[in-house]
Amino acid sequence: MFRSRHLLNAAVKKQTESAVAITNNILRIKLNTSAAVMTDKFRLPARYGAGEKSVWVEYIQLAADYKPAVNLGQGFPDYHAPKHVTKALADIATSDNPLLMQYTRGFGHPRLVQNLSKVYSPLIGRELDPFNEILVTSGAYEALYSAILGHVDTGDEVIVIEPFFDCYDFMIKCAGGIPKFIALKPKTNKENMTSADWVLDEKELSSLFTNKTKMLILNTPHNPLGKVFTKEELELIANLCKKHNVLCVSDEVYEWMVYEPNKHIRIATLPDMWERTITIGSAGKTFSVTGWKIGWAYCPANLMRNLQVVHQNCVYTCPTPTQEAVARSFEIELSRINSPECYFYSLARELLPKRDFLVRTLKENGFNPTIPDGGYFIVADWTNLGKKIDLSSEQDKYKDYRFTKKFAKEAGVLAIPPSAFYSEQHKTLGEDFARFCFIKKDENLALTEKLLKTWNASK
Ligand SMILES: Cc1ncc(COP(=O)(O)O)c(C=O)c1O
Repeated sequence: MFRSRHLLNAAVKKQTESAVAITNNILRIKLNTSAAVMTDKFRLPARYGAGEKSVWVEYIQLAADYKPAVNLGQGFPDYHAPKHVTKALADIATSDNPLLMQYTRGFGHPRLVQNLSKVYSPLIGRELDPFNEILVTSGAYEALYSAILGHVDTGDEVIVIEPFFDCYDFMIKCAGGIPKFIALKPKTNKENMTSADWVLDEKELSSLFTNKTKMLILNTPHNPLGKVFTKEELELIANLCKKHNVLCVSDEVYEWMVYEPNKHIRIATLPDMWERTITIGSAGKTFSVTGWKIGWAYCPANLMRNLQVVHQNCVYTCPTPTQEAVARSFEIELSRINSPECYFYSLARELLPKRDFLVRTLKENGFNPTIPDGGYFIVADWTNLGKKIDLSSEQDKYKDYRFTKKFAKEAGVLAIPPSAFYSEQHKTLGEDFARFCFIKKDENLALTEKLLKTWNASK
């Protein structure tokens, strides 16, 4: 009896154990399967290509990790915006008007679009309709996004000039389009070359236009080279756009940072170009408040409707207080538009000695900088310093990444690797260079000089 109960218990135990083992196996299989399904299911959609890698994310982290003494990487001023601009925002924050804290008109705060029309109408030689031809966006970034997503369809080709502001490529692919790249190339490698020495090959550019071309993206003044496209260069682009019925998205965020005797020409003002041009600007760059993230696009109403559809379904409306503050800031500048005090002109005057100082410092310390005609970046060839720096400890594929990282660690000066601004097939064109931003306090530019001298002396 006892023995048979014992046998029974043993049999039950065995059965239970094997049942548990089977259940565990099933669970494990289930878990493994669902883990596999989950990983597969939640991976980045293939159409985003290599978009997960961002030079900004990586270099902001680098700055946080190594704390270089000066950060000439990302493009923003390390000093205060004009007093009237920051005061406008402070006044709004403490204003008695409760509506300034609430949603405003989706396509642009009325006071801002009206002022944008007042600023740009005389510049483009036509009366801009504030409510149908202007869109306020979350920085120039979103204006680019709305212009590209609002027009590029699956299989459309978009011509992009390299080096390019890195999000163009991603946005085109996001829209299902195909970017076609053409690089600005230096005519010479002489000393004292300027951004005007970086040119497009006319034949190569013409050959990129096909019956699938929907858009060309222009950036003048140019980031990172500082090139201010000349009338002849713009006419070449405009004539090709007209011949092939192509839209031009003109990213002009550095429109006010142009150094004499160069002049910024808006491609929308060339004959018959208004109809096919979307021009993009940025309050961040115009008023040195990049953190406010207010931008805009202006173009004919029929094109604008396409941008509005994207904007109203992804951002809907931009912050009211910052739009109101930008509107008031424009009013101040409009009231002194013919005076040299107007920030639109005083900013470039203020930047010129900074540019010249950094160009000289870079030259004296072994770099070969391209002198920019516009914008606030200097692209400098670092290869003469190649023998002084051992890059073998850096793992990156491209030399400019290895150089800028090692240089930041050794010299304490952070720059950006320009290969980030080239397509995969042309990245080697950017490898010999580093990009330095010069909209920085004089004391930080002086510190840069000291650090470069110390680094050179230690070699
Ligand atoms: C060429 C270019 N376009 C667009 C932008 C984006 O401007 P925002 O900060 O207004 O979005 C930048 C910012 O650096 C830029 O350099």
